[in-house]
Amino acid sequence: MRIDIISVLPELLQSPMQHSIMKRAQEKKLLEVQIHNLRQWAVNEYGQVDDYQYGGGAGMVMMCQPLAKVIEQLSAERKYDEVIYLTPDGEMLDQKIANTLSLKENIIMICGHYKGIDERIREHFVTKEISIGDFVLTGGEIPAMLITDAVTRLLPGVITEGATEDESFSERDGQSLLEYPHYTKPRIYENHEVPQVLLNGDHKKIAEWRKEQAIKITKKVRPDLLNH
Ligand SMILES: C[S@@+](CC[C@H](N)C(=O)[O-])C[C@H]1O[C@@H](n2cnc3c(N)ncnc32)[C@H](O)[C@@H]1O
Repeated sequence: MRIDIISVLPELLQSPMQHSIMKRAQEKKLLEVQIHNLRQWAVNEYGQVDDYQYGGGAGMVMMCQPLAKVIEQLSAERKYDEVIYLTPDGEMLDQKIANTLSLKENIIMICGHYKGIDERIREHFVTKEISIGDFVLTGGEIPAMLITDAVTRLLPGVITEGATEDESFSERDGQSLLEYPHYTKPRIYENHEVPQVLLNGDHKKIAEWRKEQAIKITKKVRPDLLNH
């Protein structure tokens, strides 16, 4: 999968891509991330990519021309499945969206700044708009990283097979549950023991216990998931 990220602050995106699973996925050639500095397509030699908004009011707006140019240039090189704009008024990110995106071959993500981007880019180039929550961030870089992380771990071969199956929000028996609790050594930690069922090697009983726990925690903290 290839992800192209368009940003005015490319430095912000570097570090997360150079560690852990996202780094390994790139080394294994399962993921390619290309970060583009929008200022390379600026409208003048001063690197201008934003301007005052029509109608007045505080805050700059990211201009059409640089964004259109970079999207057109990339689209001439390969076909993109989605051109995504990260925005608070987009569709709320969830595991389902991450799953769908992980099946795509090439996607572009646009990181907004200031008041956001000129509406005409949204109308004519953007195919999907995603929000990461009901709050306003300074820019789209953290949402872009977050989506890249959520999608990367779903790419076949990135994580040990089966490791994502029981995870929170994954569909199991038609239900979306949170994950059950986990324990590791020592067996007794300051008088707190690991549940006996996990120690007896009875895989059927362990699976039943984990399912019960997953339902219990989901009912307690996210009953809305069970109602779906
Ligand atoms: C200060 S915000 C603009 C907020 C916009 N004026 C509004 O009120 O909806 C600047 C940029 O940060 C990104 N951003 C902020 N909050 C976000 C969120 N919850 N989800 C996704 N992107 C977000 C977007 O790319 C946005 O263009």
